Amino acid sequence: MSKDSVTFTIDGVEIHAKPDQSILEAAEAAGVYIPRLCHQKELLPGGHCRVCTVKVNGRPQSACTFPVNNGIVVENNTEEMTALRRSIIEFLFVEGNHYCPSCEASGDCELQALAYRLGMMAPQSPYLYERRELDATHKDVYLDRNRCVLCGRCVRASKELDGKNVFGFEERGLRKRLSVNSAQGLAGTDLTAKDRAASICPTGCLVVKRQAYQVPVGQRSYDKAPIGGDVERKKATV
Ligand code: FES
Repeated sequence: MSKDSVTFTIDGVEIHAKPDQSILEAAEAAGVYIPRLCHQKELLPGGHCRVCTVKVNGRPQSACTFPVNNGIVVENNTEEMTALRRSIIEFLFVEGNHYCPSCEASGDCELQALAYRLGMMAPQSPYLYERRELDATHKDVYLDRNRCVLCGRCVRASKELDGKNVFGFEERGLRKRLSVNSAQGLAGTDLTAKDRAASICPTGCLVVKRQAYQVPVGQRSYDKAPIGGDVERKKATV
């Protein structure tokens, strides 16, 4: 057993990984897609959404935060994991107000793409239709909390990549919401359209203004290939 390499299995397939990788990173390097929503390569793992849940030696764990280890047995692409992830996505749809046909992120939205990939049909729970605030005060960036999935990407990107602290969370449970560090709304913050935080949202919650329909519907990322296809294509060429 080498100190520089770790060997474990995902769905019975042997994977070789670096000792400092998470399960999600090792899987991705081997061409195995583990669905995820809050994870972004550029950011420290957040562990917020649990869409990446896998079973490790029979116990549910988040693949983006769980380190690889010799001999662990990981279950990823099973009916049970798919059903669990689908129910997480369903809850996000019923908690928020996601009107895909009228959303400028449609076709590029990771929530929508995951719903398709995981086979979501009509959600099993009633829609909450919560009233959520919009913030159009900023000259270049628009914030629509109806589409927020509380993944924390913008919060982490503003802090870790932009060196600012524009976004945060307030309240808890169903009342938890994305906040900004100015009582005047986004316009009162030092956010710019060039900040990574302005473009890292997986849905249409944070969008840069005047760019919405530059790529026509039908020609966007997930109109062409399902989410995760890029990772799986890597495997085909390994
Ligand atoms: S992607 Fe792992 S918890 Fe969100």
